[in-house]
Amino acid sequence: MGAAIRYGTVRWLISRVGVFALACPLSPLLAQTSFCEGPEAAGTPSRDLYCIELVPAVGIRAGTGRVELGRTASPFTVDVTADGRLRYTPTFTLTGLGQPSSLGPYSTYVAWVASPAMETIERLGVVSNGRTVLPAISLDKFTILITAEASVATQEMKGRLVLRGMSPSTRLQPPDFMQFALGSAPADSTGHAHHAAAPGDSLRWTMVPMPAGISMLPAEMTLRPNATPYLPRPSNPAAVPMVQPRQLVRLGSGDTLRLTAGIVRRPFKGDTLTMFAFNGQQPGPLLQVAQGAEVTVELTNALDQPTTIHWHGIRLDNANDGVPDLTQQPVAPGGRFTYRLRFPDAGIYWYHPHVREDIQQDLGLYGNLMVRSPRADYFSPANREEVLMLDDLLADDNGLVPFGEGTPTHALMGRFGNVMLVNGEPRYELEVGRRDVVRFFLTNVSNTRTFNLSFPGARMKVVASDVGNYEREAWVESVVIAPAERYVVHVRFDGPGSVPLVNRVRALDHLYGRFYSETDTLGYVLLSSMLRIGNQSFDSLRADEATRADIARYRRHMTRPVDKTLVLTMETTGLPFFTRQIMQLDSIYFTPVEWSGTMPGMNWAATGDQVRWILRDAATGKENMDIDWSFRRGDVVKVRLANERRSFHGMQHPIHFHGQRFLVLSVNGVPNTNLVWKDTVLLPAGATADILLDASNPGRWMVHCHIAEHLSAHMMMAFTVQ
Ligand code: C2O
Ligand code: CU
Repeated sequence: MGAAIRYGTVRWLISRVGVFALACPLSPLLAQTSFCEGPEAAGTPSRDLYCIELVPAVGIRAGTGRVELGRTASPFTVDVTADGRLRYTPTFTLTGLGQPSSLGPYSTYVAWVASPAMETIERLGVVSNGRTVLPAISLDKFTILITAEASVATQEMKGRLVLRGMSPSTRLQPPDFMQFALGSAPADSTGHAHHAAAPGDSLRWTMVPMPAGISMLPAEMTLRPNATPYLPRPSNPAAVPMVQPRQLVRLGSGDTLRLTAGIVRRPFKGDTLTMFAFNGQQPGPLLQVAQGAEVTVELTNALDQPTTIHWHGIRLDNANDGVPDLTQQPVAPGGRFTYRLRFPDAGIYWYHPHVREDIQQDLGLYGNLMVRSPRADYFSPANREEVLMLDDLLADDNGLVPFGEGTPTHALMGRFGNVMLVNGEPRYELEVGRRDVVRFFLTNVSNTRTFNLSFPGARMKVVASDVGNYEREAWVESVVIAPAERYVVHVRFDGPGSVPLVNRVRALDHLYGRFYSETDTLGYVLLSSMLRIGNQSFDSLRADEATRADIARYRRHMTRPVDKTLVLTMETTGLPFFTRQIMQLDSIYFTPVEWSGTMPGMNWAATGDQVRWILRDAATGKENMDIDWSFRRGDVVKVRLANERRSFHGMQHPIHFHGQRFLVLSVNGVPNTNLVWKDTVLLPAGATADILLDASNPGRWMVHCHIAEHLSAHMMMAFTVQ
């Protein structure tokens, strides 16, 4: 699987970004009270995950406090370092501290952050009664200490301990395995050759592959999904064509494209997989149109199951949105459907089926759609463009792990793959000149994986996301991209040598309550020896005046009260006793983002019949398809999304609104200062986000989680724009 895993390196960082942030105006942050204070209100970030209670040290009589683990402003809803550590800006609120001199020969209070076993202690800064914002922390687990010190300049903790508190993640402890009476054993992935069966033979479930280094309890190894396994099995495999690479198709206004969703074979690790493809290509054809163009696409369904095409992110006419039973009947095998598309917004979009995404999209039905702005300077200059679709595939020695026929498997965390793909290939390679600036259009088409991508050693800035440019370009260490999101980045390769494209995350071993590093190398950029003059404009960050002016028209709506609150939660029925017990233990802490499939057996065996993911309207209590929001065309609606921590299994959800665009105004109460139009927003566990929905496009539209298994496990609703 190519994931290098390092254990136990208790490395940690205090980001200098936080120091810089102190010099910037923090007035919006300082003006409000922390969500950690006062009575806990519904629809606010989880205190249990984002607040630390400070308790007095032995012998200290006066003083209490809280630390809000605030979000550091970032172009992404989750702020992480390039190596995958979450970064929090701590806000201290202290009350009742006496004069430091009352405790001894001291003149000041100082806050420190330490690793749990105190191997390392770093000074955060001087604190006193009231609110103090200190530099960002990026440790998996940590302890906050406040001491009385003789001097404000002290760099070493010498004084007396006054208050202390532990990060929510320190609650993670290995459970007492004795209660399972079975101990833990390394998994083995031997099984029956499930894919080798001829048509007519029944497909059987074998154990899912394990991520390297993760152990499974024997009880977990006996779990199987209560569903019929499915893999495409054509009656005449030899007649199925081999997959082809993606081709660029330029479409002008009035053009018609024929797209066939069909079956292909593809070589894979010395084996042959049977998969799906549009026009025999993986990814599907890269469609390029001019902003404002109108084209026709004729879909033919050559699959063994019904399908549709959804044109993700495009504000098109409702009848062409491709949602079965909402905007059209599903297209039966052998059937056809004509889509008429228009493209009001420049940007990078994508298309995929809207029937069992967990199967059809995962088997290869996805393609990009590039809408070009007429503005020659829409992007700042780059030497070349690359369009990358990021995916992962779940395979073992026998080929693809089967899907659930009538209901999805992996209904808890989604189907994490163990082979990373860029444009359908396990290894991506690009050759560029030294100092070239490359514009990458990134689309995450995986079922559930959120990537944290970087090119170590190369400078990168983010310029655009789902539905157009940011107000201004921003330097980033990495790109956090959830399923269905798009980001456009400019990267300069100074070289020499080669630069890998890596996904670096902190995975959570739920059984042992520990974090560890996972690095996947998705490919390499090879730098030719040719040295280019370089691209001067890359060094500065450009503002996009047209985007600014467009967004400015919505400013007056940004301070309006919340119109609708949507709570993200879940419930389960009939899960095995073992699974429920483990989930109970696990619910002591939810990591804001599950970056990796580290509960493989339990997750795999949970189906959409047992797990129901929920969107709940806080005002009416209605859930999923019972919700029926109605807006008038031109309404600007503030929606609060609140990802409920108290649900049985909390995790992140990328929430997608069809047919409209929105701005992400704030995350966990921290305002975004650099806006961009989006159609999908990632909600970390226990987090809230306020979005401003531009309800401009009439019709009946979907809202859903873009984790394919969550969508197939009911996490969807509809709204009408009149
Ligand atoms: Cu790409 Cu309804 O989604
Ligand atoms: Cu979800």
